[in-house]
Amino acid sequence: MPVCGIFLVGFMGAGKTSVGQELAKILGWAFVDLDQRIEAEERLTVAEIFQRHGERHFRDCEHWALRRMISELGQDRPGVVALGGGAFVQPENAELLAAEDRPTVFLDTPVEQLWQRCMALGEPERPLRTDPAGFRALYEKRHADYMRATIRVDTVNKDVPQIAREILATLNLEPRGARKETTK
Ligand code: S3P
Repeated sequence: MPVCGIFLVGFMGAGKTSVGQELAKILGWAFVDLDQRIEAEERLTVAEIFQRHGERHFRDCEHWALRRMISELGQDRPGVVALGGGAFVQPENAELLAAEDRPTVFLDTPVEQLWQRCMALGEPERPLRTDPAGFRALYEKRHADYMRATIRVDTVNKDVPQIAREILATLNLEPRGARKETTK
């Protein structure tokens, strides 16, 4: 069955949103950031959900938003979805994506770079971006789970368009408008 959805996974600051937007632009597909979807549905920011209702509630919202997202995508409505950093490490989400045979892409970035990016000006408030040691410990705890994604892309020394092209090539997807050469 042709691919109708790509799910980007990886730690906070890995570039899931920028790469997802680029991929969607190249493919002519919709782009959805799952955290933004949750914020719109809950009418609260992710940070507010954590503060008011706790992480467990956030994970429930995340799981149901992911389920709805998966069921919305189809051949006539293909899309690229950026998941929040903790989504794929929840077993129920990884199992759901595997059961639905949805390709997942792990953007693998060294933890030092992730920390720098998350500390940059203008970045959203991230409840689980604590101190450097806590951030590294969480990254190390999760890394093996991210490695279970369908494909892994090393992002070191690559810009967003390069990463997007690499994903397309690995998943054997063509940019919008590209036609396979045919020989008569
Ligand atoms: C989280 C990452 C965040 C957001 C929430 C929890 C995590 O998304 O979903 O703060 O558990 O790593 P980003 O990866 O987009 O920062």
